[in-house]
Amino acid sequence: MRNRFGLLGAAMLGLGVASASAQEVARVGVILPMTGPFASTGKQVVAGMRLYLAQHGDVVAGRRIELLLKDDGGVPDVTKRLAQELVINDHVVALGGFGLTPLALAASSVATQAKVPEIVMAAATSSITEASPYISRTSQALPQTVAPFTDWCIANGIRSVVTIVTDYGPGYDAEKWFKEPFEKQGGKVVAALRVPVANPDFAPFLQRAADAKPDAIFIFVPAGVGAVVMKQFAERGLDKAGVRLIGTGDVVDDDLLNNMGDVTLGMITSQHYSAAHDSDLNRRFVADFGKANEGMRPNFMGVSGYDGMALIARAIARTGGDTDGTKLIEAMKGQSWESPRGPVLIDPATREIVQNDYIRRTERRDGQLWNIEFATIPMVRDPAKAGK
Ligand code: PHB
Repeated sequence: MRNRFGLLGAAMLGLGVASASAQEVARVGVILPMTGPFASTGKQVVAGMRLYLAQHGDVVAGRRIELLLKDDGGVPDVTKRLAQELVINDHVVALGGFGLTPLALAASSVATQAKVPEIVMAAATSSITEASPYISRTSQALPQTVAPFTDWCIANGIRSVVTIVTDYGPGYDAEKWFKEPFEKQGGKVVAALRVPVANPDFAPFLQRAADAKPDAIFIFVPAGVGAVVMKQFAERGLDKAGVRLIGTGDVVDDDLLNNMGDVTLGMITSQHYSAAHDSDLNRRFVADFGKANEGMRPNFMGVSGYDGMALIARAIARTGGDTDGTKLIEAMKGQSWESPRGPVLIDPATREIVQNDYIRRTERRDGQLWNIEFATIPMVRDPAKAGK
């Protein structure tokens, strides 16, 4: 297997050079879960990518950008195979998407061997960008969202917390990057609970957490799962019993929020994007996104797809249309622009996104639920990579 892939790797290199000079079209391979429990992520990311091209045009420096969308169903082996096929057969100039951490990691060796940029537009475990020098990211690193939130918790009288996280990479990041800064400031994590990834039942975990009577329960779950959490929280009567639920914005993601109901009212969360973000650029983004997608509201995955496409287009512009993978990833370093989420920058040293973190409160406005941003922590770098 290793040998065979080595040979394919050599073939990729030759073809990559030939295609860069001979073709006018620049194909971008998009690999996402379009079916299964994380289909909402896939749908959001690709809608964001398409909207960027619709608004800005699909020709950049003489190259017409074409998206080739593949469904990995959320299965890492499939992600890797699709990445190989897209590189070898379709000569894509970049790979984008990657709905979950194991999927982003599964493609990383393909990106390295083929020297093709892998733009992560959803997965959020901090270490992903360290898996290949060809990876950059337009979603988030969990520590970026979680660490600044502990300052708000301490300033607002929260001293004891039970954390509940999904039992895999981004959950471990969320758990660690809540506990360490929180306890440094005098808080205490009294219990750290992990919920299985497959078929999660949150009710017993929420009950155990509530029984410990902390000032708040902090929760991280991946996008698409929040509605189940909030339903089980309400079914147990925990909201009525005065249990305070806080978390990353993933639990109240804009794609599902409107159907979650009053149980979310007053919830405080931390994240880099809300569809309610107060800027002209975002209002246009939300309106155009809805128009193109039967009224769908963009969530943080949608904006990451939009910015991921922006990053690829900006890199092609900077190289003057040269789609050599090494030149493209170089051209991504240091890019900065105004996103619907606010200002963003690709850290030239880590290839990681630098962005504002916002503290938000879920409110009902004009009959709809929104996450209203009320505090901004400007241009947060991934603290897990500080000093690296
Ligand atoms: C991940 O798997 O890294 C992931 C997925 C969805 C999220 C956050 C993290 O909302």
